[in-house]
Amino acid sequence: MGGFELRWVVRVTVVLMMVPKILGWGKEGHYVICKIAEEYLTEDALAAVRELLPDQTEGDLAAVCSWADEVKHHYPYYRWSSPLHYVDTPDFLCNYKYCRDCHDGHRHKDRCVTGAIYNYSMQLSQGYYDLNSEKYNLTEALMFLSHFVGDVHQPLHVGFTGDVGGNTIIVRWYRRKTNLHHVWDTMIIESALKTYYKSDLTLMIQALLRNITDEWSDDVPSWENCKKMICPDPYASESVRLACKFAYRNATPGSTLGDDYFLSRLPVVEKRLAQSGIRLAEVLNRIFSKQPFAAQ
Ligand code: ADE
Ligand code: ZN
Ligand code: ZN
Repeated sequence: MGGFELRWVVRVTVVLMMVPKILGWGKEGHYVICKIAEEYLTEDALAAVRELLPDQTEGDLAAVCSWADEVKHHYPYYRWSSPLHYVDTPDFLCNYKYCRDCHDGHRHKDRCVTGAIYNYSMQLSQGYYDLNSEKYNLTEALMFLSHFVGDVHQPLHVGFTGDVGGNTIIVRWYRRKTNLHHVWDTMIIESALKTYYKSDLTLMIQALLRNITDEWSDDVPSWENCKKMICPDPYASESVRLACKFAYRNATPGSTLGDDYFLSRLPVVEKRLAQSGIRLAEVLNRIFSKQPFAAQ
């Protein structure tokens, strides 16, 4: 028990120093995911990540985990990356298939979140072993990969084509008018922060880290049972199942979502944030291990 507590104090101190002033899943979701991942990186992975990160981040991966959303919104140069944040599935099917679903609006294959995860993890692992090669921008690859592993865990980033992953389902979140997608990107996390964590993201991160070592500890090995470099397809399948069972259920257009919805969905959101962090650490640890990973 003593050892457990001490480790806990060290973690909390590290996390406390790194909460940025402006934070959006939404910034908060991606920040939480990357903070959890940082706690599970090996020394080799941490060193490689620090080498690749831009100087201003001072080696903090979480500082760049919303970069992909920011450039998509604000820089026309990055507009091509918009379809890489999600993969939509045919309406009401509740399953996902790479060949059927992974394409953009012009049906260009592989342009979706799972395709992007394969692409950027391949770039990082190839580029890392051939650092003289200028073929890939590895800093960008790391920032995209860290963000997209988060996105594929948001259930409505693997939602239905017809409602654009819940974006066209207008609902009320308590008294506020919004859409279902935004509820899952941001509002559930924001309400949880206010209700349970004194609006302090650090407290939420601590609670999730504690759940990983306590309440969910028996499940964590099953989150990590990927036998390849990375397994975005099962993550997307989990997401669309959760979208059907929890996100879309009782959230029809015009409905008001309040305590019942919030309290029953928050555990899903919290577990997805934690799974995403653990799996991001797992892929980075594999990519940056000194042992080249066996061919897939
Ligand atoms: N645009 C189209 N589908 C989307 C989704 N599932 N999530 C976010 N943006 C989208
Ligand atoms: Zn995104
Ligand atoms: Zn989103």
